[in-house]
Amino acid sequence: MTEKTFELVDRASDRKVTLPVRPGTIGPSVVDVAALNKDLGVFTYDPGFGVTASCESRITYIDGDAGVLLYRGYPVEQLAEKSSFMEVSYLLLHGSLPTRKQLEEFEGSIRHHTMINESLLRFFHGFHYDAHPMAMVSAVVASMSAFYHDTMDIYNPRQREIFAHRIIAKIPTIAAAAHKHALGQPYIYPRNDLDYCSNLLHMLYAVPCEPYHLDPVAAQALDLLFILHADHEQNASTSTVRLAGSTGANPYAAISAGVSALWGPAHGGANEAVLAMLEQIGTADHIPKFLAMAKDKSSHFRLMGFGHRVYKNFDPRAKIIREMCHKVLARLGRTDTPLFELALRLEEIALKDDYFVERKLYPNVDFYSGIIYSAIGIPRSMFTVMFAIARTVGWVAHWQEMIADPAMRIGRPRQLYTGPTRRDYVEIGKRTS
Ligand code: ACO
Repeated sequence: MTEKTFELVDRASDRKVTLPVRPGTIGPSVVDVAALNKDLGVFTYDPGFGVTASCESRITYIDGDAGVLLYRGYPVEQLAEKSSFMEVSYLLLHGSLPTRKQLEEFEGSIRHHTMINESLLRFFHGFHYDAHPMAMVSAVVASMSAFYHDTMDIYNPRQREIFAHRIIAKIPTIAAAAHKHALGQPYIYPRNDLDYCSNLLHMLYAVPCEPYHLDPVAAQALDLLFILHADHEQNASTSTVRLAGSTGANPYAAISAGVSALWGPAHGGANEAVLAMLEQIGTADHIPKFLAMAKDKSSHFRLMGFGHRVYKNFDPRAKIIREMCHKVLARLGRTDTPLFELALRLEEIALKDDYFVERKLYPNVDFYSGIIYSAIGIPRSMFTVMFAIARTVGWVAHWQEMIADPAMRIGRPRQLYTGPTRRDYVEIGKRTS
């Protein structure tokens, strides 16, 4: 079988280039455009990277048209039903499901790396009481590079593994400290006898003066949400981690860059924005007014939690979370759930509206997640932090994959320059305007 290639001809100079096509295991092949500049003197132009594969990866696969999401080949629906966040973390990092012994060792290592240096805890005192938790988490994660710099050789696989375990174990402790700082309550130390999500809930809600009773429903809900948020191939924050990491930067600093990129409302910040929007809409009779605003390009209002760069069908994660909302709210005994009812109605109306149908805009992972976070008592400003905790695993898996790849190069996009052509400096007294 002949290898597939594309031939591109510059008709003005009659020069041509043959571009090889590289197939993946599933999904679209890619055209290797490396020869374009050498042979034709041009770059590709793809603002927003809509059709650009920035790397080769074996971690996560998305078919946006079919609404399919696979972690290392396993459908996210199966993992959500049968697995745990710790097992999924192992899978993303190592490429295969762990044996019982491997899982115990991995979980044990994560449990024993949960404490953070006391000096890091003191950093929180420097933040104003109303600092956004994402700002605090990003800053404190970046500061970890000051604690683990001399011992962090990115080309040493064992040191990379220690980094992976440290950041996955410590980011819940940092997140909970950000929450406690906002409340003015004492920081709660991690408990190594608890599983990952129960420990996070304990650090978020316990106080030193009375016993804290863990709610297993809340811990299970969080574990499931974390599985669904764990990775999503080359999204904005993961690409940021890869780009920052490609310079050889300290990986804690690269993860901090990912936290910052995630914060934006077009990305992970949407979960916070969805709840604000639902509260703003208030009641179902206001939905048409807000839909009209979302369709009006001059309003700058978008239906938060709707639309996705890759999914042109239901985001499979949104379907699972919507189902989960029913179960979690029922198990928590919530009968009065106005925001969930409103979200369901909004989805129903939007999915019948021509504007959303034509543009294939469906609910994404963030549309329903805030409803569950709220139901288990997570404050709105912490929603994106919850996302960041789960996505840390994906960021680390991508960073590991990139650093271990012998073909790794610094990420360095090019541009179409449209500024002034060459001109000579004019003395200040001779400038006219
Ligand atoms: N509300 C109204 N219109 C929308 C929405 C929306 N939520 N999303 C997209 N559109 C429209 C655009 O205006 C555009 O219309 P046009 O063709 O008439 O110009 C069309 O749909 C295509 O949208 P783009 O902005 O080109 O799509 P893009 O892939 O660049 O953006 C994004 C994807 C950022 C997710 C967008 O859909 C959006 O802003 N959604 C709301 C924010 C959100 O929920 N973000 C979370 C995404 S999931 C995640 O990152 C975890």
